[in-house]
Amino acid sequence: MDRARRCGTQVKVTDVQEFAADPPVRVERRLVDESESRAANGPDWDRYADEYQATHGEFLGDVGFLWGPEGCTEDQIAALGDVVDRDVLEVGSGGGQCSRWVRSRGGRPIGVDLSHRQLQHSLRIDDATGLSVPSLRGTATHLPFTADSFDIVFSAFGALQFVSDLELAVAEVARVLRPNGRFAFSITHPSRWVFPDDPGPDGLTACQSYWDRTPYVEVDRRTDQASYVEHHRTLGDWVRLLGSQGFWLRDLVEPQWPVDHDRVWGGWSRERGLLTPGTAIFVADLIR
Ligand SMILES: C[S@@+](CC[C@H](N)C(=O)[O-])C[C@H]1O[C@@H](n2cnc3c(N)ncnc32)[C@H](O)[C@@H]1O
Repeated sequence: MDRARRCGTQVKVTDVQEFAADPPVRVERRLVDESESRAANGPDWDRYADEYQATHGEFLGDVGFLWGPEGCTEDQIAALGDVVDRDVLEVGSGGGQCSRWVRSRGGRPIGVDLSHRQLQHSLRIDDATGLSVPSLRGTATHLPFTADSFDIVFSAFGALQFVSDLELAVAEVARVLRPNGRFAFSITHPSRWVFPDDPGPDGLTACQSYWDRTPYVEVDRRTDQASYVEHHRTLGDWVRLLGSQGFWLRDLVEPQWPVDHDRVWGGWSRERGLLTPGTAIFVADLIR
């Protein structure tokens, strides 16, 4: 659906190996389990990473913490709380920009990402800035850490809308967090699910049910395999899920689109952003 992905032209980063261009796809709505979601989204992010970083890297900032296309920063909302001397895990860390910001503020961040290519970009930016973030290849549903390892876990448009087994992903966050740890994450605002993924006026006409959780699937026409999958949950689903895993929801931030902000990012734009929320940022604490 509201993928931050299909905008912009294919721009290649020259100092790293090239991946094939996106395959021709057809779109379906059907159930997809966790292994099929992962098998689709890992390679998809490998193919897309160069374009993503070339298109959005400057806006993200090499040492910058943006929660979403509206430009809302961690400096503005302090969703993580104090990061000084805290062990911090970023899930779906991509180029590591947010984690690098955490490090610049005195925290000890580690990143996990499904995409090898995104992690190569993270290394490239580590070298360029001299500020490195240890990052591992892994998935949100199987975090490669022992229990009680972190004070804070966060994800900025990272893995959460790409996993099928969200209960397991949130249980994994609860497992690796220390008592009273903080979990903060941003996702596409669930209300956007009803609209076509279009930054223009067509993206303002509701065309599908908010309550239909059937995943959005792109299928590679050449192989008939899923090549990209996105999952939707309603706001109520999220609240219930966090509660069931022992989290207390402290805040739900819905950043307003700044009137002078003209950047188009996938389905996000000023035209839509002034009328409907595009990003939801959940801030929750583990109660144990
Ligand atoms: C929209 S990017 C966001 C990256 C970074 N947080 C940023 O703001 O640029 C989504 C990231 O989530 C990663 N991802 C997707 N599914 C994942 C999963 N199951 N586990 C871990 N990372 C995943 C992708 O590889 C990609 O790097």
